[in-house]
Amino acid sequence: MAREWSYWTSNKLQILGDYVPAFNRASKKSSERLYLDLMAGRPENVQRLTGEVIDGSPRRVLSADPGFTRHVFFELPSKAEKLESVLRNEFPSKDFRVVPGDCNRTIDEALTRLRDYRWAPTFAFIDQQAAEVEWQTLAKIAQFKGINARTKPELWLLVSPAFVARGVSGRKSQAFRKKVTRFYGTRNWLNIQEAREARSITGRQYRDEMVNLIRFRLAEGLGYKFTQRIPMLMTNKSSIYDMVFAGDHDVGDKIMRHLYNKAAEREPEMIAEARRLTAMQREERSGMYSLFELPSAEPDVKGEVLWQSAPYWQPASREWWTERDVV
Ligand SMILES: C[S@@+](CC[C@H](N)C(=O)[O-])C[C@H]1O[C@@H](n2cnc3c(N)ncnc32)[C@H](O)[C@@H]1O
Repeated sequence: MAREWSYWTSNKLQILGDYVPAFNRASKKSSERLYLDLMAGRPENVQRLTGEVIDGSPRRVLSADPGFTRHVFFELPSKAEKLESVLRNEFPSKDFRVVPGDCNRTIDEALTRLRDYRWAPTFAFIDQQAAEVEWQTLAKIAQFKGINARTKPELWLLVSPAFVARGVSGRKSQAFRKKVTRFYGTRNWLNIQEAREARSITGRQYRDEMVNLIRFRLAEGLGYKFTQRIPMLMTNKSSIYDMVFAGDHDVGDKIMRHLYNKAAEREPEMIAEARRLTAMQREERSGMYSLFELPSAEPDVKGEVLWQSAPYWQPASREWWTERDVV
């Protein structure tokens, strides 16, 4: 069964679809280029409002031109077999593996099998929902090319404080908190959580601080030279998640900044269209048709500067911060 997606997923995947050929063009002198997809998903999904079928990351990446030379798709066993059979059928000449299981457990063996290509430019997409990936897994990927490598594998990571906030207040809160600690690799995220629970910070500040903390860790813990974030907005303009990029090469950073700008330019139109379709569907369901016009699909913010690169800050600079153990 295809999963239902919202417009922000299409926007995210368009960034991926544009970045992959740009990355491979920029690295074309290298005879090998590696792609790791830690949460590969299904071959295709359906846009919730339009019913449109949208290709998932594996299809987009395997059909990129120029593309990577070797690919590893990690996915839970329940979906891995189907993913593999669809991709083998569609891309018989491509070099890829589908690795079934928890990527945090299968990463070691997968990286060991790639060790002869450690020198190759490498890109990892980590399309989690809340906090499924562990910090140790990110660290293993970052260290894959060895300490003397000029550039580490690039990481493109979904970070969703909104989903974390939901999990933390859910029924299995304690287990979920441990999972979030494994994602950040430190208990320091609890400073932000507690500041929010004490109403010392707003929901917006909570999201910003949670995304900032992972950027700070990627830069100062793993040594990434560049990190960027782009929030993906819901129709109420609050962010559902951020896409965080970490890399060491200024060309990769420049391309990603350009694509983040493009994504921010597309977003208002996507939001306006989603609002219009939601209103139409509501009317259809209720059988009551408005005497007034449906919301226009014209975005109201054309021409604004919608995204700008901003540096991360020292998380510990906040007065509510107490340093906790790194786990
Ligand atoms: C948001 S979806 C990924 C969508 C996909 N990247 C795409 O573009 O279609 C997240 C996927 O991660 C998988 N997943 C969750 N936890 C995982 C884990 N620990 N290891 C591997 N896959 C996992 C889920 O089964 C789900 O298919």
